[in-house]
Amino acid sequence: MAHTHFAELLDLDAEVLSDYHATVFAWVGATAPDRPHVLDLGAGTGIGSLSLARALPGATVTALDVDEEMLGHLRHKAEAAGLADRIRTVRADLDQPWPDLGGPADLIWASASMHHMADPGAALSRAYAALRPGGVLAVTELDAFPLFLPATDPHSVLERRAHEAMAAMRDEAGLHMHEDWAARLKAAGFDPVEERRFDIALEPPLPAAGGRYAQLSLERMSHGLAERLSPADVASLAAVAAAVPQRDDLVVRAKRMVYLARR
Ligand SMILES: C[S@@+](CC[C@H](N)C(=O)[O-])C[C@H]1O[C@@H](n2cnc3c(N)ncnc32)[C@H](O)[C@@H]1O
Repeated sequence: MAHTHFAELLDLDAEVLSDYHATVFAWVGATAPDRPHVLDLGAGTGIGSLSLARALPGATVTALDVDEEMLGHLRHKAEAAGLADRIRTVRADLDQPWPDLGGPADLIWASASMHHMADPGAALSRAYAALRPGGVLAVTELDAFPLFLPATDPHSVLERRAHEAMAAMRDEAGLHMHEDWAARLKAAGFDPVEERRFDIALEPPLPAAGGRYAQLSLERMSHGLAERLSPADVASLAAVAAAVPQRDDLVVRAKRMVYLARR
């Protein structure tokens, strides 16, 4: 799947799961002092950077990502939102020693990025060093992209199997999807503040962007699993994806974990 589609998926996730995102940003934002300096680790298209800049008047945000294309999307969105003067982007591989970020951060946001690190323990230690004493780190993680087919759909079993195959691929690629993040945070020196699990279950009718999100996610699996599933299963997944615009019965089932920890 084209890289821009991955960027679009990140934005669609924020749009479709807007209640979850609003709850988390309000909760995390409430821990920050006035005019905080915020770091967004593995910022992607900037869901966290923009939401925190909006939620925290006077905040300055440094958005870090290894991927210049993602940072380009982020800058474009920050400009369109009139936030470019408070959000700067820095290209950095967070598995390497971090660049000088101009003073300690008050709040660090790491959404669905820690599992990408080659050494999450080292990245968390660097996050600890980058925070001022008393500052907060928020880590959010997910098991999988959402499920969209209702349980009564004959293809829901195939959708679950596809998710299992995608999970196996992520494991083989060395992504850290099954970490005990609370233990990892403690090992890096943080004091745990709170840990919340969000079981997201949206029923039809979905928000307007729900169909596009479902279609892209299902297409992404049918392309990604060409070598893993039988040709018949891949064709079925592609057909389910193609038929999404004609459906009004899709759901969203997702799980997210959020860990708050303090230096
Ligand atoms: C799943 S996306 C999450 C993006 C965003 N935080 C969000 O929640 O929408 C993971 C992001 O981490 C970035 N990333 C992966 N490995 C990285 C590394 N070693 N250093 C910096 N960024 C990295 C990717 O480029 C991608 O933008």
